[in-house]
Amino acid sequence: MNKYSILFIITILISGLNATAQEDNRFFPEKDLITTGIYYYPEHWNENQWERDIKKISGMGYEFVHLAEFAWFKMEPREGKFDFDWLDKVIRLCARYNLKVLMCTPSATTPAWMRTQYPETFVMDGHYIRAEHGTRGLGSIVNPVYRKFVATIVTEMARRYGQNKNVIGWQLDNEPDAKPDYSPSSQEAFRQWLKNKYKTIEALNAAWGAAFWSQWYSDFDQIIIPNTSLVGWWGNNPHALLDFKRYLADAQAEFLDFEATTLRSYISKAQFVTTNYTAVSTGADPRRTNKLDFATYTAYPNGGTDNIGEQGFRLGNSKVILFAAEYYKMAGGVSGVMEIQPGPVNWGNYNPLLLPGTVRMWLYHAFAAGGKLACSYRFRQINYSAEQYHAGVIQPDGITPSQGGEEYMQFIKEMKELRKQYKPGVAMPATLAARSTAVLWNLENYWTIDRQKQTSQWDTWNYPVKFLEIAKSFGAPVDVVPETADLSKYRFVIVPAYEMADGALVKKWSEYVANGGHLIITCRTATKDRMGHFWEAEWAAPISALIGAQVKATDMLSNNGKGEILMGSAHYSWNNWGDLLAPDKGTETLAVFDNQFYKGKAAVVKHKVGKGTVTYIGVDTDDSKLERDVLRGIYDGAGADTENYPPGIYVYWRDGFYVAVNYSSDSYTMDMPETANIIVGEKTLQPGGVLVWKLPSYIKN
Ligand code: GAL
Repeated sequence: MNKYSILFIITILISGLNATAQEDNRFFPEKDLITTGIYYYPEHWNENQWERDIKKISGMGYEFVHLAEFAWFKMEPREGKFDFDWLDKVIRLCARYNLKVLMCTPSATTPAWMRTQYPETFVMDGHYIRAEHGTRGLGSIVNPVYRKFVATIVTEMARRYGQNKNVIGWQLDNEPDAKPDYSPSSQEAFRQWLKNKYKTIEALNAAWGAAFWSQWYSDFDQIIIPNTSLVGWWGNNPHALLDFKRYLADAQAEFLDFEATTLRSYISKAQFVTTNYTAVSTGADPRRTNKLDFATYTAYPNGGTDNIGEQGFRLGNSKVILFAAEYYKMAGGVSGVMEIQPGPVNWGNYNPLLLPGTVRMWLYHAFAAGGKLACSYRFRQINYSAEQYHAGVIQPDGITPSQGGEEYMQFIKEMKELRKQYKPGVAMPATLAARSTAVLWNLENYWTIDRQKQTSQWDTWNYPVKFLEIAKSFGAPVDVVPETADLSKYRFVIVPAYEMADGALVKKWSEYVANGGHLIITCRTATKDRMGHFWEAEWAAPISALIGAQVKATDMLSNNGKGEILMGSAHYSWNNWGDLLAPDKGTETLAVFDNQFYKGKAAVVKHKVGKGTVTYIGVDTDDSKLERDVLRGIYDGAGADTENYPPGIYVYWRDGFYVAVNYSSDSYTMDMPETANIIVGEKTLQPGGVLVWKLPSYIKN
């Protein structure tokens, strides 16, 4: 079938897929595509340079300035004494130079007076040592004194700037990370959290399996936070640790919601409230907040690692934006990148020059994935202090754009052109909609699996990401969604290592399949209940009927071990994880183990249920070849035409534009119709290259 001709009529509801690319958002009109901004810290510079800098920001084409993030010391120099005159001045300058302002609450860095007078406002580590003044992100977010001070400064800021027409929104705190806190305030808050959850100590004892090693409690007051620094990680109670993680994530979310609520009493509805999670956040959970308008992420793809090919160390890790750009849409439907690395950082294993074009490519990647804003940390490279070596978009002389700065300007210029070419209401092409894919993800599964990996070869964070990568290599539009999502929007749903499940969730999956969906479930799914206990039943019991097979046992091999798999006539190798499957009658065996003492046992099975299919992939391989071929078979079988993009080539469609980026070290020539209208770049993408094109409307692609 020719993918450039009218394919076939698929009656698929695409309205919800990548809804963000299709719907106008209250804060981000679709016609603007993406809005650009930059972090500026006036408090770091001589006042007589402020106007020069703001003028330069405007001249470079930026649309907003990110202010006040770490400036608590300047806004409240003494307890209860506020000074906003300096900030008023900067905001006026921004207005004069046609720049909007994104205001930030300063709760990540407290002023020195707080340390000396209220040391209890700091977290305690696992050795019960109190953090000190001098760095950031160390406030004890459950401490009532700290909370009182946060409420006061946020209220003062909201009163002052909440109705300012030039302020478009607020970022709360900085990179919230649900940091472990063993302080007395946190111990108390944890006990309260447990009481709310379990009501009775008996229920807690049962959930924690406290009969083991005499951990039994007779009263909530006996409980202290499970402390891996003292007791050791391996020997600690996994259920108690899971609850500690949940408590920390809940406390973090509640703290953000508390700041948001404080702001909302004063600010205009036109101002949005967001925060900037780290791209890979293993502690804070964006799904737990409910007072933010949306979530953003910070992206530092180049931290001195190898990546794809010999130039990969300059181009950065392609998975950073790939995952974060989708994941953070979970919180409010849209997302954007709040900090994008503007050049070498100061904290990587080593900090190489970026291949020319890299910053622009990252920006395009964030845009392609639906990003509504692209802001960068930071404007001027600082001449002093902890981040001296960290690039800015302006060099340490204060006036010369860095390589990243030049690329940012190019991106902004090109976006202006794209805005001109934007046409509202263009529906996603049918070829793409036919591949629509969701990857299901719940941070709690990361916590439990990473806690009990069972093999050091299990790569907990990258495991779900590998399925996102496979689907992207097919050219599929992929969303990362929570289990509460409406799955009927997707033709393919991938459930990677979803360790904790329950009957209701499995029922939802079954209904999805019965109605015609194609579900791909992988090893380590539904092996535990929501408290992390195994079922008192066969392995992965809740999904046996759905996958049409029983998981009989699991093998794992040494790093040098050679496990073999046969699928049709193709051979694959594995050594990370292998579930031995016993298929029911009527279940098709797609692949079998081809060596070891269980040679011939099923490793991958496919089960038809109602109008759809369920495929269970019991094996985790290093090179993903088996998983990729299995998935391709499923997409083909469902009539979805797939691409075969090599690693590091990502192609997206948004708002009528096709966008491709190249993170690999080789050039890549895009297969596209002759009539395609190239707007940015060339058909052959060089490493770090970008290509944007549109298809003429008569091609019903
Ligand atoms: C981010 C942080 C920024 C800045 C940056 C340096 O994680 O949010 O404030 O420190 O790292 O790379």
